[in-house]
Amino acid sequence: MFAKSPIIEHMEKYNRIFENNQKWIEEKKATDAEFFEHLSKGQDPDFLYIGCSDSRVTAEDMMGAEPGDIFVHRNIANVVSNVDLNTMSVIEYAVAYLHVKHIVVCGHYYCGGVKAAMQPADLGILNPWLRNIRDVYRLHKDELNSITDEEARYKRLVELNVEEQCINVLKTAVVQRHYLDGGYPMVHGWVFDIHSGQLIDLKLDLDQKLKDIREIYDLGASSKA
Ligand code: CO
Repeated sequence: MFAKSPIIEHMEKYNRIFENNQKWIEEKKATDAEFFEHLSKGQDPDFLYIGCSDSRVTAEDMMGAEPGDIFVHRNIANVVSNVDLNTMSVIEYAVAYLHVKHIVVCGHYYCGGVKAAMQPADLGILNPWLRNIRDVYRLHKDELNSITDEEARYKRLVELNVEEQCINVLKTAVVQRHYLDGGYPMVHGWVFDIHSGQLIDLKLDLDQKLKDIREIYDLGASSKA
């Protein structure tokens, strides 16, 4: 027997995706014959999930969610940047048109994006993206620098990055307007612990955070105010 060439192995892996897809279709139809018929009617998700692109952090799987349950946006290190047309469009659409009830920003321990931002290095086109996380470090420099254990500091930056990205969600006009008028969407910060598989709700008091930042970032003057 000849050893398989890497190219053949990679093509087999690639082709397996379509075999898996066929199996998935059959499984879904076995439990609900009209599964895809229902899906094709439209979406009405209650959640917007903003998470990291990391291949190990799969939104639907870890939440036990089904197609149609969650509107998902993923990027490196779950950043919510106000000049990122992609993230801003996702939030606008999810809140103003899908009327999601919850927006979750989910980070994860051992996030490569957060790790990269902690290194003093020029990473080319990644610099402006990682700047968002370096800014989080600067805002919380005193707390982070007081943590001597490097892994603990890394984990804390993951949590603080989630917190700051939640605040960035609160800074958008569409979220302020809908939240102040109707009480939705509620914003939550989570961390996925890759070691245990556990989803941790950071239980951030984002109602208070919104009150704190409105002095400066007030865009959502309530129509009832
Ligand atoms: Co990550």
